[in-house]
Amino acid sequence: MRRVHLETLAPRCPVCEAPSPLRLERVLREEREHVLEGWLSCTNPACQREFPLVDGVPQFARDLRAHVKAQTLAFLGRDELDELSESWLGDCSGPQSEFDTLRQHLSQYSWDHWAEFDPLESERDPAPGSIVRVLNALWRQVGALPDGPLLEIGCSAGRTSFELARRSERLTLGVDLHQGKLRLAQRVLRDSRVRYARRRVGVTYDRREFTVPTPAADKLDFWSVDAAQAPFADGSFAAVVALNVLDSTHAPLDLLRSSARLLAPGGALVLACPYDWSTAAAPLEHWFGGHSQRGPNAGASEPVLRSMLGWSGDAQLARLELQSELDGLEWNVRLHERSVMRYRLHGVVARRR
Ligand SMILES: C[S@@+](CC[C@H](N)C(=O)[O-])C[C@H]1O[C@@H](n2cnc3c(N)ncnc32)[C@H](O)[C@@H]1O
Repeated sequence: MRRVHLETLAPRCPVCEAPSPLRLERVLREEREHVLEGWLSCTNPACQREFPLVDGVPQFARDLRAHVKAQTLAFLGRDELDELSESWLGDCSGPQSEFDTLRQHLSQYSWDHWAEFDPLESERDPAPGSIVRVLNALWRQVGALPDGPLLEIGCSAGRTSFELARRSERLTLGVDLHQGKLRLAQRVLRDSRVRYARRRVGVTYDRREFTVPTPAADKLDFWSVDAAQAPFADGSFAAVVALNVLDSTHAPLDLLRSSARLLAPGGALVLACPYDWSTAAAPLEHWFGGHSQRGPNAGASEPVLRSMLGWSGDAQLARLELQSELDGLEWNVRLHERSVMRYRLHGVVARRR
């Protein structure tokens, strides 16, 4: 965590929501301008909650116990093991184990975000970097922005946040809930190095390690934040970007409302979504479409999203105005050597009035 981000963004306590910002209470480990371990605390005497910093990632969870319990392995995760040692851990813990799921997610997102810089990377059809191509296409629609920092929700392994910081030269924050991906993003920020296990087949993986370009890294930081309950003041950001998050979050409507609240007047909301709804992320009642085929939208998701941008029934959403749409943006998720999932994304740029 960079102190400049803490001072500029002044996060509030996600539990009591007192207006005074959290205080960096204790630093246990620091490396150059990055605080790696320690904790922040709420200055409200009636609350005094603590928010730990692990591997450079501050944890702003409202329910910290549930947040940590759900991903203890990721918090304890280590990547200094030799790849052969890691391979027997994979064999023994087996498919669908917590270890296997963690490795697979890191393989998928590290590949698309960073593998274009891997000298050993051979995959060309499709080539890695699809999420950067999606961001580029949408960012061209954005135009002028008010002053202020940028926020990326669901930043995962961090590549698109780097792109946003590079393009805008503004203070940029990437937030996610997944400690494994955030740790990887923080490592790239500090060392410009990517180290990940690239899935070959089953539970076999090849270790990859390479240097990546990180322009504007001094503008960027990565935090663990639930964007549906983001601990920032109204109007804190000039743009909010959320790529492939609406259908993989527990409360899509809250995430949209929160994004609208965080935007400064004239700010841009940039969304892309494959509408790959699943109850693993959110109950059916929370999906935007994907059900109720007999209704006026015949179950389609796009009209539901459009109707929410500017919806007068909600004070936050009413402030949004649809600016432009792009459909059919290609996004690829590489599962293993013989399988890549190709999605066609619906992209939207909206303005905060
Ligand atoms: C499908 S992934 C997309 C990642 C990245 N944007 C990309 O397209 O490559 C969705 C990401 O959103 C994160 N996420 C889901 N709900 C979130 C929330 N409420 N706040 C912050 N991040 C969230 C997940 O942890 C996951 O990393």
